[in-house]
This record gives sequence, C-alpha cells and structure tokens, in this order.
Amino acid sequence: MLRFDVMTLFPEMVKAPLSESIIGRAQKAEKLKVVCHNIRDYSKDRHHRVDDTPYGGGKGMLMMPDPVYDCFCAIPKEGERRRVIYLSPKGKVLTQKKARSLATFDQIILLCGHYEGIDQRVLDEIVEEELSIGDYVLTGGELAATVVIDAVGRLIDGVLPDPICHEEESLSSGLLEYPQYTRPVEWHGVRVPEVLQGGNHQKIRAWRDEKAVELTVKNRPDLLSDKGES
Ligand code: ADE
Repeated sequence: MLRFDVMTLFPEMVKAPLSESIIGRAQKAEKLKVVCHNIRDYSKDRHHRVDDTPYGGGKGMLMMPDPVYDCFCAIPKEGERRRVIYLSPKGKVLTQKKARSLATFDQIILLCGHYEGIDQRVLDEIVEEELSIGDYVLTGGELAATVVIDAVGRLIDGVLPDPICHEEESLSSGLLEYPQYTRPVEWHGVRVPEVLQGGNHQKIRAWRDEKAVELTVKNRPDLLSDKGES
C-alpha cells in the first residue's frame, strides 16, 4: 500500500479534500494511506513558533529548520522505495508521466512550505526533489500536495472502478480527451452526433481520434510537440 506522509502547518487543508469521493473511499478500503504531521507540534519554542526573519533582510518570514527536521525524523519508514518531495513553484512541473512513476513508490513524503519558504539547509538535507503543480504561486504547498496525492492515488490498482479508464483518458495518449454525450439524445436543441448513436466501432474510433486531435491543436498545441512528456 502506498503511504503518503504530509508535513504541514495546516493538516486540515490536506485531510479534508482527500476524505471525500474516490480518494476518501480508497483510504477506507486501504488502497492508500494519507498521514498528516503538524510541523508546529515539533516547535521547541514556548509559543510554538516555527518561523523567523530571513538573514540578509527581505520581506516575510521563513520556516526554521529544526521543527521541519524533527517532524521529518518522527515519520516512520514504510517499504523500500521512498521519496521526499518539497512542493514549490520552483520545482519541476508535475506531469501525468511523473504521477505514473510516483505511483510505483511505497512511501511519498510531501513537505509543504508556508510564509516566504523554508531555510535552505533543511531542504538540502532531507528533500530529494521539488515539484510544482503549475506556473502560478499558491499561498502554501498544501493544495499542491493534495493535487499530487489525488493524481498519484487514482493510478493505484483498485482505486478507480475500471482500470481501462487510464488508457482512454486525457493525456495518457498524449492528446486531450474527445467529447462525450449521454441521454437525452437531444438537449437544448443539440443532438448527440449521429456516428455515436450507431454501432460502428471503427467509425466511432475515427470520430473520437479526430475530435481529440482537433481539441489538442486548439487548446494544447504544446502537447503535440513534446510527445511522451505527458
Ligand atoms: N507552493 C506555492 N505555489 C506552488 C505551486 N505552484 N506548486 C507547488 N507548490 C507551491
């Protein structure tokens, strides 16, 4: 079972969304485990402080190395294949390919930063890789860690109802997914494309491929030039 350990100052930001829906069910079914650790519990300060001003000046506060390190040391080891990841806009951007590779680990430890960041020395000592979830800046790593757990967790065997879904979905093929329709056959004056109503699977396949390419050219032409990256 893949175990995620999340080191954070705001455990509820991670726990709450992952207790719902598919990942919530998967946790109950013990297909994966998410354990949150509050970094503040490891502060030795009388006031439970975890941040301080940066050397050299500058705005904001930095997370001090000791509470982060002590929190890390308290996490029990699970299995052989472990990864320690710091969520940061400075990291490599998460892709579907990366999610597939992370799904093969036994334990993934996710470190969430807040304020203006974390003292570099503790990052250098414990972190193996930095991951970003996109080119924008969040207020902290919690939402990013949640995204990583959701994207990786759904790839674990038995988490999604039908594993064939992985083959068909957006990005796995390097293309965006074709549009889909359900009943009623006519809605707001728009009919479901005729080809999908017939049983000609070859024609349906061709129609879906064509739509997938069309959509990818329109919304994500970058995917067509870096095939394999998804
Ligand atoms: N922390 C702040 N912004 C982030 C991002 N885009 N990805 C991962 N962690 C972050």
